[in-house]
Parts: sequence; C-alpha cells; structure tokens
Amino acid sequence: MVLIDTDMSDSLVIALSKGRILKETLPLLKSAGIEPLEDLESSRKLIFPTTQQNVQLIVIRATDVPVYVQYGGADIGVTGKDVLMEHGAEGLFELLDLHIARCRLMTAGVKGVAPKSGRIRVATKFVNLAKQFYSSKGVQADIIKLYGAMELAPLLSLADEIVDIVDTGNTLKANGLEPREMIAQVSSRLIVNRSSMKMKHQMISPIVEQIEQAVQKSITA
Ligand code: ATP
Ligand code: PRP
Repeated sequence: MVLIDTDMSDSLVIALSKGRILKETLPLLKSAGIEPLEDLESSRKLIFPTTQQNVQLIVIRATDVPVYVQYGGADIGVTGKDVLMEHGAEGLFELLDLHIARCRLMTAGVKGVAPKSGRIRVATKFVNLAKQFYSSKGVQADIIKLYGAMELAPLLSLADEIVDIVDTGNTLKANGLEPREMIAQVSSRLIVNRSSMKMKHQMISPIVEQIEQAVQKSITA
C-alpha cells in the first residue's frame, strides 16, 4: 500500500528520532495539533498518518534524521544537537531548541589515570566532532569509530579516551571512567529542509510557532 501521496507539495513529512527523544517530542507535536493515529512504539510501520490529514510522521534513527531533512525526504525533523554537529548543517535550518533530551558531549578516560600526552587514541561514534575538538586543542588523535558502548574502549585498552554523551554520569562511574572535558551542551533541535522552508512556509510556520510556544511554557513552568 502506498502511504505517501506522490504529489507532496501540499503535505508535510516530519522525521522523528526513535528512542529516548520520541516520548518527549510527542507532547510538543500535540501542542501543534499533530498526533499520530496509532502507537508509534508498538507498530512495525515506518510512516504514520496523524490527526492532520496532510501531515505524516516517520520514525527513524536519530542519526538518519538530518539526512532525510537535508535531502528533502522529510520537511521537518527532530534530533539531538550532537547528531546535528556531527552531520553538519548543509541543506537545513536549525529553527528551535526544544530543551528536551538535555545532556553533554564530553571526553572521558579511566578514573585516576592522567590524560596521555602526545598522540592518543579516541573511540567514539562522533568521528567528525572528535577530530575537530582534538585538532582545535593541538592534540594528535587517532579516531576509532564505534557504534555504541564507547565506555568499554578505555577499559580494554582499545582507546585512551572516548567522546560520548554524559547525562547523570552514572554510565561513566559504573565503568570506572571519569569525565574530562566538555565539548558541547546538547539538547534536541527542530530542523527544517531549506527548500521546504520556502515552498511550504505557510504550512510550516504555524507548526513551528505552536511548538515554540509549548517549549517556552515547559521551560518556564
Ligand atoms: P542510534 O539509534 O543512532 O544508535 P542512539 O542510541 O544514540 O542513536 P538515543 O540513545 O535514543 O539514540 O539518543 C538519541 C539522542 O538523545 C542523542 O543523540 C542525544 O542527543 C540524546 N541523548 C543520548 N543519551 C542521552 C542521555 N543519557 N540523556 C539525555 N539525552 C541523551
Ligand atoms: C547514552 C550515552 C551514555 C549514557 C550516558 O547511552 O551513550 O552511555 O547514555 O548517560 P548517563 O550519564 O546518564 O549514564 P544510551 O543509554 O542511550 O545507550 P546506547 O549506548 O545504546 O546509546
């Protein structure tokens, strides 16, 4: 069954990150009158109709959201600032800080072990960000790409440091690691495809305004 109308000019596709951001995003969308017609987490579908006939949701990995939005597969997206910094801003506008899924992007290493001088090995899924960060400090870093459980790498001598998300610090602590330097404060952002912003401005701007109001309400509550 074809779910997306082939004439997309009067319809909107919103790309949501599955996982931890999703739950916090739904109330913001609701404030703009957009609610999925079925449960996003239990369904095996990838495209979901909503209470607004011309708005559809897709639920994908956080790292794929800027890709869909950049190339116009989705008009609007919600993903973490970490993901956006790693991906780059080509083809998209970052319109709103949603103040959800707040955390920090940090370097970390084994607790009590002094940071190694000279050339170091760094394990991370944020390869571009890590390269930029260490080079801005004049540190020669060989970056090793991992897709998860970065905390393991220093424990098994795969790397001297990691670059990863830290929230409570519990994951670092539980694995005998300590945070070292902060690279960036992270929260989720609303992004919009550049050409959609022009071509579908009348549809997009009230949604952005309503979400912005809901964000303001939630941060002043
Ligand atoms: P992928 O599906 O690509 O592997 P992921 O497993 O990192 O992504 P999540 O863990 O759901 O997906 O994280 C999505 C986003 O949520 C991150 O990009 C970051 O912005 C934010 N985030 C990640 N971990 C935390 C955390 N512990 N606390 C708060 N926000 C977090
Ligand atoms: C994220 C991140 C850290 C952890 C940090 O992992 O990669 O491991 O959260 O949170 P904390 O400081 O509160 O412990 P997540 O739980 O998303 O699992 P993942 O490894 O599958 O990404």
